[in-house]
Amino acid sequence: MQVGIDQIGFYTPNKYVDMVDLAHARNQDPNKFLIGIGQAKMSVADQTQDAVSMGINATLRYWNKIDQDKIGLLVFGTESSVDQSKSASLFVKTALKMKPQVRTFEVKEACFGLTAGLMIARDFVRVHPEQTAIVIGSDIARYGINTPGEVTQGAGSISMLVKAEPRIFSLNDGHSAYSEDINDFWRPNNRATALVEGKYSTQVYLDFFTKTFATYKEQKNWHTQDFSSIIYHLPFTKQGLKANRLAVENEDEETTKRLMDNFESSKQLGMNVGNIYTASLYMSLLSLLENAKLAPNSLIGLFSYGSGAMAEFFSGNTIDGYEKQLDIDGDQKLLSRRRKLSIEEYERIFTVGLDLPEDGIVLESDESAGNWYFAGTENNVRIYKQK
Ligand code: CAA
Repeated sequence: MQVGIDQIGFYTPNKYVDMVDLAHARNQDPNKFLIGIGQAKMSVADQTQDAVSMGINATLRYWNKIDQDKIGLLVFGTESSVDQSKSASLFVKTALKMKPQVRTFEVKEACFGLTAGLMIARDFVRVHPEQTAIVIGSDIARYGINTPGEVTQGAGSISMLVKAEPRIFSLNDGHSAYSEDINDFWRPNNRATALVEGKYSTQVYLDFFTKTFATYKEQKNWHTQDFSSIIYHLPFTKQGLKANRLAVENEDEETTKRLMDNFESSKQLGMNVGNIYTASLYMSLLSLLENAKLAPNSLIGLFSYGSGAMAEFFSGNTIDGYEKQLDIDGDQKLLSRRRKLSIEEYERIFTVGLDLPEDGIVLESDESAGNWYFAGTENNVRIYKQK
């Protein structure tokens, strides 16, 4: 029995900052951001979009296409959690009117959270093949105005339906994991923005990639040329490019070209949305599926990295006809509907978003009809509404 991804839903908020504008405002050469970092735009969440609302909106992208009664598990991976105790998934469950019998919880290990959820879902479906699982990754990357990490911010969510005999992507057995207790990137409970040892984090990422990729190939007795593509967690696209360059070192011309070309396809969404932490690797998967020409049953390697740090390399294969399950036009519209912010507007929205609105204040959203948003708190309970 194959188990894997049957549906992928994507959501990003309706505002963005252009990296050329940001570079000018920060007295930087735009090519540092466009080429040196590899980012063109970043989505910006205002106070009415948070991890929960974005996760609902991503799931809604496929919600009416699936058998909702079969869902037995709902896992939410995030490092932009809205509560220290209650799972973000419970708000999603209520918004989508899921049945009470669903097992549901939130997981955290930085950007690795959605991969953890996906692996739990895969194993759940293996044991309960008649049931399905939804896994959501949803985050707002916030480093702060005028920090080196500012150019690597972003906001968005990916939601996936995991089931037996999936129609998009089957997950292979086995994985190689590697973890170490380090301080490359973290966000203490009293902070709304991340702390980061930027240069160190980029080195650890590459080190963990080298280790997990080598171990995985050894475990499966596979070689680099067996992979049609390798895709990455993309905190910014240059980071993935550097890992991909390591992957193709000493490989033949054909393998190098294929892996470099497919990397280009996989980075298109990330380059225009920014870092969405837990969901970033899966936005790379969606971008690859939408932009590359992949032969049936193509072997795709996935590198997941969560600071702190935990990394995993695993793989899957495309299912024949996967294109029919995608909504490429819908994803393009989602990006093109975004309004470009001036740097002043972005800075104001960013600053307001660091705090909760005063209890009892009702927030209005400028999202399009049908989307969910955070409407403020009533007696310190978070309220979500549909536009
Ligand atoms: N034209 C072209 N390229 C230029 C340029 C120009 N005019 N000016 C500079 N560059 C290049 C530099 O040569 C450099 O390229 P290389 O990395 O290939 O050497 C690149 O632009 C970046 O320049 P700097 O190293 O000087 O950039 P910086 O000091 O401003 O910071 C950063 C870069 C450390 C990544 C910073 O943005 C940051 O801290 N980001 C957040 C942390 C992060 O994303 N870490 C990634 C690994 S951790 C992870 O993956 C988990 C997660 O999601 C956070």
